[in-house]
Amino acid sequence: MQRRAFLKAGAASLLYGTFSGCTKISTRPQGPTFRLTAAPGETRFLPGQTKPARVLQYNGSTPGPILRLPQGVESSIAFHNGLDEATTVHWHGLRIDNAMDGVPKLTQAAVPPGGDFTYRLTPPDAGTYWYHTHHRSWSQMAMGLSGVMIIEENEPPYVDQDIVCALDDWRLKPSGELHTESLRSIHDWSHDGRMGNFITVNGQLNPGFEVSHGERVRLRLVNVANARIMQVVIKQPDIHVVAIDGQPVTPFRPEANIVTLAPSQRIDLIIDLSADAGEKSPIGLYIGEHAYGIAHFRFSQPIKREQALDTPIQLPMNPQNRITLPAEFKKVPLRMQGGAMGHMAGAHYQGRDMSIHDLVEQHNQMWAFNGVAGLPAKPLFSVPRGTPISLEINNDNNWPHAMHIHGHHFIHNRFPGIWHDTSLFAPGEKGSMKFIADNPGKWLIHCHIVEHMAGGMVTWFEVT
Ligand code: C2O
Ligand code: CU
Repeated sequence: MQRRAFLKAGAASLLYGTFSGCTKISTRPQGPTFRLTAAPGETRFLPGQTKPARVLQYNGSTPGPILRLPQGVESSIAFHNGLDEATTVHWHGLRIDNAMDGVPKLTQAAVPPGGDFTYRLTPPDAGTYWYHTHHRSWSQMAMGLSGVMIIEENEPPYVDQDIVCALDDWRLKPSGELHTESLRSIHDWSHDGRMGNFITVNGQLNPGFEVSHGERVRLRLVNVANARIMQVVIKQPDIHVVAIDGQPVTPFRPEANIVTLAPSQRIDLIIDLSADAGEKSPIGLYIGEHAYGIAHFRFSQPIKREQALDTPIQLPMNPQNRITLPAEFKKVPLRMQGGAMGHMAGAHYQGRDMSIHDLVEQHNQMWAFNGVAGLPAKPLFSVPRGTPISLEINNDNNWPHAMHIHGHHFIHNRFPGIWHDTSLFAPGEKGSMKFIADNPGKWLIHCHIVEHMAGGMVTWFEVT
């Protein structure tokens, strides 16, 4: 194919009498084209559920299909909105063109019912990412609009199986239908977000993965829940974290075999599995003091290996890993206020100063960044491309927040050397998020506990 394309190009340039045209035409590699449709659908969460739950799906399932895209090459996703409300698709964690970021009002008009939008993505970094609606996320995400996206390494490390676990948290009625009446609950929005009562992995209750003793698996954990901070425990002796939020890290063993994922975070693990044939080894989730099985490995006959695997488990570095931060930064204070048991008296909202009472009663707003609730008309800051930024965080309220920046990865001062696109700030924590604002456009900063974002915890910045 390539050779033929080259010959054609050569012929064309001969026609035009210039040979230098060859280099220009030399084909830019092209990734796949996907079709992605959001639409209402039905699913049954409970065994023997009579009345199906009405959910929102991508290509007929929730989570949507796993999209596997090549690194550094443009892929297209032809999106169709089959919902009866507007929506967009956001590609969480990808450092892509601003126009493709999927934020209504900021980067595109929301796609109307029946409308289409083609997203063109050239992801520079490999790893585990995900996609989700960014319009009325507190409703559309809670009803199922998310899916996992994998950017393939050009030279991935050897594993026997690549297993994806999209962890979700649903609020179901006893019938198994979604509890949609509570979607705008002021209590949820002002406390820890919409917590569910039913955990699924890849949309299923406690699914099993067929494995063998001696197998090496790459396990990609993705927290697609609106609000639940997931503490996952894997009781296997040989487990290493190899990537966080898509970006490779120096492999390490997680303490007590527990990894914590804020809403929207991803962790890649490499596990050399061991157990006897016939055994089950659970993947557990802590809820309070106790861990509950949410998925499991099911061991069949051992695989036969000529010799033990001694291939490295370190992932190849991404361009993001090669970014080094300077010593000096433009400092931008970010004070986070509000929520239940907070002391916020009021905030600026859509051009007006309002009391907390009126904010809650009239607009369901109860959170603020620097005294402003909701998306402001003016950016938090506007800087030329390449400016090193230090967001000086003051989490001045009683709740943890999953701080997320679009289009960039940052370093949270508590985790030196680790690039995140989302990181948890504890109640009362003062810290920093450092990054280089190197992607032109308008980018959101928000809490990824989706009800906190909807309740006011969102702002934006501009890179010129
Ligand atoms: Cu997962 Cu504003 O993003
Ligand atoms: Cu929050």
